[in-house]
Amino acid sequence: MCGIIGYVGPRPAQEVLLNGLERLEYRGYDSVGVALLDGSQIQVAKQMGRIAGLREKLAAAPLAGHSGIGHTRWATHGQPSDQNAHPHTDCSGHIAVVHNGIIENEAALRQELIAGGHHFRSETDTEVIAHLIEEADGESLSDAVRAIRQRLRGSYAIAVLDTRHPDEIVVARNEAPLVIGLGEGERFVASDIPAFLPYTRWVVPLEDGDTASLKRDELVLWNAAGERITRQPYVISWSAEAAERSGYTTFMEKEIHEQPRAWRETMRGRLAIVSPRQWELHLDEEAPKPQEWQRLHQLFLIGCGTAYHAAMVGGRFFEQLARVAPTVDLASEFRYRDPIIGPGDIAIFVSQSGETADTLAAMRLAKAQGATTVAVTNVVGSTLAREADRVFYIQAGPEIAVASTKAYTTQVIALALLALDLGHQNGQLNPERAMALVQALLDLPRLGESLLDQSAQWEPLAAAIANASSAFYLGRGLDWAAALEGALKMKEISYVHAEAYAAGELKHGTLALVEAATPVVALITQPHLVEKSLSNLREVKARGASVLAITSEGLSKAVGEVADAVLVLPDIDPLATPVLAALPLQVLALMAATLRGNDVDKPRNLAKSVTVE
Ligand code: F6R
Repeated sequence: MCGIIGYVGPRPAQEVLLNGLERLEYRGYDSVGVALLDGSQIQVAKQMGRIAGLREKLAAAPLAGHSGIGHTRWATHGQPSDQNAHPHTDCSGHIAVVHNGIIENEAALRQELIAGGHHFRSETDTEVIAHLIEEADGESLSDAVRAIRQRLRGSYAIAVLDTRHPDEIVVARNEAPLVIGLGEGERFVASDIPAFLPYTRWVVPLEDGDTASLKRDELVLWNAAGERITRQPYVISWSAEAAERSGYTTFMEKEIHEQPRAWRETMRGRLAIVSPRQWELHLDEEAPKPQEWQRLHQLFLIGCGTAYHAAMVGGRFFEQLARVAPTVDLASEFRYRDPIIGPGDIAIFVSQSGETADTLAAMRLAKAQGATTVAVTNVVGSTLAREADRVFYIQAGPEIAVASTKAYTTQVIALALLALDLGHQNGQLNPERAMALVQALLDLPRLGESLLDQSAQWEPLAAAIANASSAFYLGRGLDWAAALEGALKMKEISYVHAEAYAAGELKHGTLALVEAATPVVALITQPHLVEKSLSNLREVKARGASVLAITSEGLSKAVGEVADAVLVLPDIDPLATPVLAALPLQVLALMAATLRGNDVDKPRNLAKSVTVE
């Protein structure tokens, strides 16, 4: 998983590449490099570490050239090191390549190339691509790249420079994202749109199998069958600043605070109350069709990590509103368990990026077996969005911090809208139940804003967890899914070991780990489960645990009698509470991570978009 940028045009390329890489750093950040073509010579600067280090080095010794490629890496083949940093060159130094993905037949290709006299300088799978291009015959660079694609197995997005073809970059895509940006007399290519958004809003997404030649005034595209094709550019409506931090210390903080606005966007034009007893839901053209819902046989909800937790919450919505019990699964499990799936089934895939390898593979499997596949995603033009039969865009805007926040809550809202739609179509929706939820969903942005206004007061609660070595998160029903997400947020950015349990399960083993002063975060927002949850709190209190309860106003008196501290959410329909509960859970994790001095936006060992299995 890595970030790629390429530029050809009139500007000095070094700055364009460094700017682009800074916006792609969320994709990986163990090493970084650029290659610039100046006249007939390629110059490479690359090193281990972050972009700031390379920027400093290049400030002292700038590279000239008006075309170039750059890369920020998250190691898959070979340790992070200066040698393994991209770009990689061939023996002659004519060719430079950057690559995102994994070449699965790298070992065989490397052996063959070494036997043919090629000299390798890195341990990466990428370097074989540079040597293969060196070997390839072809009138043009694009011929060579298209020829060597036949030899590559695996996932890749690549960008190639060649001294013999100045002012040109050739790119190719297979199961890894790549988009082209069109400017006036200049062309960009990147793994993600924000990389070139300061320069152009016109975008052409590439499909798997595409190869493209980029020149200042020209873009030539070939599809997987080798045919010359055209693809319609589209214009991006969000601004470059929307992808910046807008005054917050970290992207995660900014994205947490953007949530009420993002929720409005998710529901805008889709959900409205039109009279005191009537609401309307208008799903986009690309959403599941009424006849597909009406024919529904089995429903699947699938995702990874936080997106899986959103699917867990969504599962309860479908059960409550449409009386359909979906199978909720992790994409990495679903794809290997030989699932029973076929025509009439609908499989919903939840993914912020729309590029998660396991989610894509699970979607392709379900599609191949005849299910109608639905992408619930944030990224327009992402692979999931393009390949699924139906799409529901969560409209959260770009999410840069590695830890997912606004994507999670907007995914939950999106699934609520889809569940309302199914309940409406299959006749299972109870009108009063539905009206109460619709009202609650539309109230969420206002309530979320007022809740976030109080967030500064939560710091002492976060400090108690930040100082501990491990913490437990408990909840029942919807609160269990919320607890899982809260614990994931805490561990991934604060590195405090946080474990979530269905509250009734603790006494079946894990209670043995609870001892004096162990922090326990208890989610208690579901009125019908309060008594049971309070019994579980008493169990951990009796072992000396220190309990912070996150509860709703109406329940806070009873809960406050047992918990050591209470964080109160505004009263809302219980089905909508997972959205509000996510806010303090995210803020507690952010504060704990900050108190521990961690890099909040780029936690260790993680990357934003998991495009390898
Ligand atoms: C955690 C987090 C991850 C992602 C997961 C799936 O904060 O962000 O668990 O949710 O990697 O990513 P997407 O949603 O892009 O498929």
